[in-house]
This record gives sequence, C-alpha cells and structure tokens, in this order.
Amino acid sequence: MELKNIILEKEGKIALVTINRPAALNALNTETLSEIDLVIDEIEKDSEILAVVLTGAGKSFVAGADISEMSDKNVIEGRKFGILGNKVFRKLENLEKPVIAALNGFTLGGGNELALSTDIRIASTKAKFGQPEVTLGITPGFGGTQRLARVIGVGAAKELIYTGKMINAEEAFRLGLVDKVVEPEALLDEAKALANTIANNAPIAVKLCKVAINKGLQTDIDTALSFESEVFGACFSTEDQKEGMGAFLNKQSLVGKFKNK
Ligand code: CAA
Repeated sequence: MELKNIILEKEGKIALVTINRPAALNALNTETLSEIDLVIDEIEKDSEILAVVLTGAGKSFVAGADISEMSDKNVIEGRKFGILGNKVFRKLENLEKPVIAALNGFTLGGGNELALSTDIRIASTKAKFGQPEVTLGITPGFGGTQRLARVIGVGAAKELIYTGKMINAEEAFRLGLVDKVVEPEALLDEAKALANTIANNAPIAVKLCKVAINKGLQTDIDTALSFESEVFGACFSTEDQKEGMGAFLNKQSLVGKFKNK
C-alpha cells in the first residue's frame, strides 16, 4: 500500500496511524482522506491489530479540511467533498477496534471532526480546538454539526461552532471534548499504554462493547438494552469467555493471553 500522507506502523497488538502532511499542518485533502480510508481497511482486516492510536506529525493533529483544495469548489464538488469526509469518518467510527486520538496540536475543523469520530481523546497541553468554518464562509462538513453536540451538549457545541473560536486543552477537557490532558512528551506513551491495556483484554468482548455503546447511543433505551442482551449472550459462544472465566476460577487471569476466538 503506497501512502503519501499517512504513516501506518504496527507495534505488537496496536497500530499507530500518523497523519503526515506537516507543511500544511496535516490539512485533509481528498488524497489524505482516501488514504485514511485505505488504512482503515488495512487495520480492519489485520487480525493482529486490536487497538489503534491516531495522531498527527509536527505541531498539528489536523488543522481542518484543506482550504487550498476547497477554495475553488463549486456546489457539486463541495457536496462531494463533504460526503467523502463523512463516509471516511463514519467508517472510522464504525471500525470494530477501539481508536484513541492522541491530539498533539491544532485540532480544528475537519481535525476536530476526525477526533470526534474516535473512541477516546487524549490531548497534549499544547493542543488547540475549534470549528472555525463559519469564519471561512462554510459550515462544518465532516460531522461537526452532528457529533460535537452529541459529545459536549447542544449549547457548548453551538457556541464553538457559531463563534469559530479556538479553545485550549484545559477548556476542551472541562467541556468533555477530550477525556484526558497530558504533557506533550507523555502524549504518545499515554495513548499507546491505553491502547495496549485495551488490546490485552478479550478482543471480541471489546469489539462488542464498542458496537453496543455506539449503536445504543443512537436509539431508545429499550432497543439499546435489548441489543446489549444480544451481545452479552453472544460472548458465551466464545472460547475467550470460557477460558477467561475458567482462568479466574483457577485464581489466574487471561488478560494479555486471549485468543480472539
Ligand atoms: N488547509 C490548507 N492549508 C492549511 C490549513 C488548512 N486547513 N491550515 C494550515 N494550512 C497551511 C497554511 O496555509 C500554511 O501554508 P504555507 O506555509 O504554504 O503558507 C501552513 O499550513 C502553516 O500554517 P500557518 O502559517 O497558518 O501556521 P500558524 O501556526 O501561523 O497558524 C493555524 C496555525 C492557526 C492553525 C492556521 O494555520 C489556521 O488558522 N489554519 C486554518 C484552520 C481552519 O480554518 N480549519 C478549518 C478548515 S475548514 C474545514 O475543516 C471544513 C470541514 O469541516 C470539513
């Protein structure tokens, strides 16, 4: 797989994905979005990868969709670009392996929307967040008008989106936009340690947790609980459940040794 704007590295059970277009602060052009799409496919089919860390090279996570590419688009092209971003981010959100965003710097516009499509967000104290689209004459187009309000609430999302203002990591944590803030030097280690902790647990159970949480949040509580009962039941068909519980009863643990079966 030939990638120009993304670095995909495997470290044991985890994949490290780095958006690598630092000269443009990792802005998302069509090529980069298409490469993210390819990388998601690659990770999906690699059964050795059980969790993912997503970060950016240089001083930015992602400073938004590529303004140079967008500036000349007409209505049809603009819509098509929005659909591409939404398709790729939805695919990431639905990837059946947990994704941890390690937000190293500018996390703006399409960058914040990318982060919102991951499972857990850890920010460096240097990270900056915002949805500056209205300062450019557009709306957020890769899920920001939908996911931000679901994560931080309607009022806070509307304030960020209507003002286009930038906030720091501490404020992002206060709003619940990020789950943790760490010093820049600790960011990747922290994200990888979390990914490894997750990857050492029963992979099928972790996958089903992600599916159940994401699906359940989009439906009524009765349907959601009924779905939970289905996935809970499904776990009892796995070897990992039998062996995991067997190990516990023998005063041992299968953490780190699950078979993914
Ligand atoms: N698209 C294209 N290029 C970008 C970019 C973007 N989103 N963000 C930064 N760059 C480029 C700059 O044009 C500059 O290129 P040159 O060196 O060739 O001039 C380079 O990256 C470095 O950027 P700056 O010199 O501006 O760096 P800075 O440290 O002074 O400022 C910044 C950093 C505040 C993030 C500033 O670059 C900025 O405001 N960027 C745009 C942020 C933005 O508006 N994002 C939203 C885009 S719209 C969107 O995302 C729509 C959507 O929802 C899908």
